[in-house]
Amino acid sequence: MTNDSLTEEEVILRDTVRLLADRELAPRAAEYDRGERFPAENVAAMSALGLFGLTIDPEFGGSGGTTRQLAIVSEELSRGCAATGTVYGAHLSLCTRYIDRFGNADQRARYVPQLATGKHIGAFALTEADAGSDAAAIKTLVRDSGDGYSITGTKQFITNGAEAHTFVVMATRDPALGAKGIETFIVERDYPGITVTDQHGKMGIRASSTCDVRFEDVQVPPENRIGGPGEGFGMTMQVLDAGRVVIAAQGVGIAEAALEASISYAKERKTFGRPIADRQAIRWMIADSATQVEAARQLTYRAADLQDAGEPFATMASMAKLFSSRAAVECADRAVQIHGGAGYFAPTTVERLYRDAKITEIYEGTSEIQRMVIARRVLGD
Ligand code: CAA
Repeated sequence: MTNDSLTEEEVILRDTVRLLADRELAPRAAEYDRGERFPAENVAAMSALGLFGLTIDPEFGGSGGTTRQLAIVSEELSRGCAATGTVYGAHLSLCTRYIDRFGNADQRARYVPQLATGKHIGAFALTEADAGSDAAAIKTLVRDSGDGYSITGTKQFITNGAEAHTFVVMATRDPALGAKGIETFIVERDYPGITVTDQHGKMGIRASSTCDVRFEDVQVPPENRIGGPGEGFGMTMQVLDAGRVVIAAQGVGIAEAALEASISYAKERKTFGRPIADRQAIRWMIADSATQVEAARQLTYRAADLQDAGEPFATMASMAKLFSSRAAVECADRAVQIHGGAGYFAPTTVERLYRDAKITEIYEGTSEIQRMVIARRVLGD
C-alpha cells in the first residue's frame, strides 16, 4: 500500500525496514514461532540498522527521530514477524524510553547507550498476578535498605524477561496507598535475588519470551530510583500511553500482512474454473480488510503526530490501539477464511497471523481498558 502523507525520509525508512522484514524477518518467522526461540538474528539485523535508537536522545546513543517514524518501524517489523515487533516494542517503547524520558543524566548515561544500540535488552516489569488491568494494585514491595532499596515480589507476563539485562520495575511502598505508593527502579538482571521463569506455550508471538520474574530482597543502589516517591504511577501511565501507539502500529502491520496474503491467495486459487478473487464474497472481504488497514494506519499516525507535536495524545493512542488491534484480529480471521483449509495448517503465514493478532487486544491495556480511558475523556469524568 502507498501512503501519500509520508515524507521522503519516512518513505526511505519504511522501505528499508520493509526490505529487512521481507528478506529476513518473514522467512524466519515460522521457525522462530515453532521453536519459541528468541529472534536473535533479527535483533542483530535491527541493531545494525540502528532501529533501537529511534526517538532516543543522540547524546545517549540514540538516533532521535519522531514517534511517527517509530510507528512506521513497528508496523513494518510486525508485518514481517509480529513476535519481533513485540520484542522491539517492549524493549524500546517501554524500557529504553522510560529511562531516556524520566531518568536523570546519570541514569541515562549508564543505561541508555547499551539499550539504544541493542547491546542490552530491556524489559518493563509492572504486571502481577493480581494487578493486570488494575495496575495500581501491585504488591511488589520496596523498602529502604542500607543506603539503597530492597525489592521483593513477583512480576508476571514480562516480555523479554528471559533475555533482559535491564528491567524497569514498579514497586509500592504500601499497597494501601494505591497509585500514590508506586515508585520506579532500574534493576539489573545480575543483582542477587532475581529468578526468571519463562512461561512457554503462548498462543502467538511465540518467539518473544514472557516470564515470571521473582525479586527476593533484591538490593538496588540508591541512584537507581527513577523520579521521586509517589511519581512512579504517573510516569508509568505516560510510558504506556506512548507504548499504545507502538502497539497500534503493530496491529496495522499484522493486518497489512493478512491483507497481502489474502490478495495473493485470492488471485492464485481457483474454484469452479475462476480465481476466487473474482467472487463477490471474497472481494468484499478484501475490501473490508483494506479499509480497516488504512483507517487503523491513519489513527495510529494521528496519535503519533499529536505526541510529536507535544499535544495531549493519550485518548487518541487508546483509540488507535482499540481500532487497530480489532482490525488485526478481523483481517487475520478473513485471511484464514479466504485460504480455507489451506490456511488452517501451520506453518502457513495466515495461521500464525491469526494467533499473533490476538495479543494486540490484550497487552499494554486490554481493549476494555482502552474503552475506559476513551470514555472517561469523552464523558469528561
Ligand atoms: N498520564 C499521566 N497520569 C495519569 C495517567 C496518564 N495517562 N493516567 C492516570 N494518571 C494519574 C492520575 O492523574 C492520578 O493522579 P492523581 O492521583 O495525582 O490525580 C493517578 O495517576 C491515578 O489515576 P487513576 O485514578 O485514573 O488510576 P486508575 O487506578 O483508575 O487506573 C488505568 C487507570 C487507566 C485503568 C490504568 O490502571 C491502566 O492503564 N491499566 C492498564 C494497565 C496496562 O496497560 N498494563 C499493561 C502492562 S504492560 C504490558 O502489557 C507490556 C508488555 O510486556 C508488552
